[in-house]
Amino acid sequence: MSAARLEFEGLVGGYGDVVVVRGASGAVAAGEVLCVIGRNGVGKSTLLKMLFGQLPCREGSVRLEGRAIDGVEASARRALGISYCPQERPVFDDLSVRDNLTLMRADRGLRAFAPLFARFPILERRLEQHAGTLSGGEKKILSFARGLAEAQPLLLLDEPSEGVQWENIVHMAALIEAAKGAGTALVVVEQNLAFAELIADRYLVMEQGRVALEGRRDEIDRERLLAHLHV
Ligand SMILES: Nc1ncnc2c1ncn2[C@@H]1O[C@H](COP(=O)(O)OP(=O)(O)OP(=O)(O)O)[C@@H](O)[C@H]1O
Ligand SMILES: [Mg+2]
Repeated sequence: MSAARLEFEGLVGGYGDVVVVRGASGAVAAGEVLCVIGRNGVGKSTLLKMLFGQLPCREGSVRLEGRAIDGVEASARRALGISYCPQERPVFDDLSVRDNLTLMRADRGLRAFAPLFARFPILERRLEQHAGTLSGGEKKILSFARGLAEAQPLLLLDEPSEGVQWENIVHMAALIEAAKGAGTALVVVEQNLAFAELIADRYLVMEQGRVALEGRRDEIDRERLLAHLHV
């Protein structure tokens, strides 16, 4: 693999006294997607929060372009080039769709969203509506659009396809492909293996807070992935 855009090693962390992530290491390069998969509750979202700095790491290190960012808080990581679309509460319900899209943009404009509106016309139709009135899947699309349009070097997506119909999942995959072409690195937590198979360059399979399997997609066959996903 070429020099990693993001590298993390030996990450340990959790909530209060409870340790959830028990030693996770991995890496992703520019133009690559690392798909994090695993059963419910194994710590996928917790790992992503640690990569974004929303949750502190008790042990281990995170490097962005070779630079240690341990101890850098989430807002500062954002300024360093990391965008994050969370699994839960992905949008600001009380704000309009427009404000969700433009709130963090210096230009406050919609020009960057043209390719996203072409794929997801519902966003443009509902611009003035409160995001809270959208369905769960529509909120995920809104969050995905906001994150992708930030066009940062690293994008962290936590279950972007949750509740999204297949036709729109395919649109997400096409947009991710374009972002990869532009050199974005992505870490994508996914339960939907069909979607993961459309986008993954590498897999990181978690089991009980640890990495059970990690490697390029051609090194890991489907049966092994399925064996880790099903009880
Ligand atoms: N805010 C929190 N406070 C305390 N425990 C939490 C919190 N968030 C998650 N946990 C616990 O941490 C463990 C891992 O949760 P996490 O959300 O990382 O799993 P996940 O792999 O993302 O699961 P899912 O596939 O359901 O999204 C679970 O046992 C969960 O109950
Ligand atoms: Mg999760």
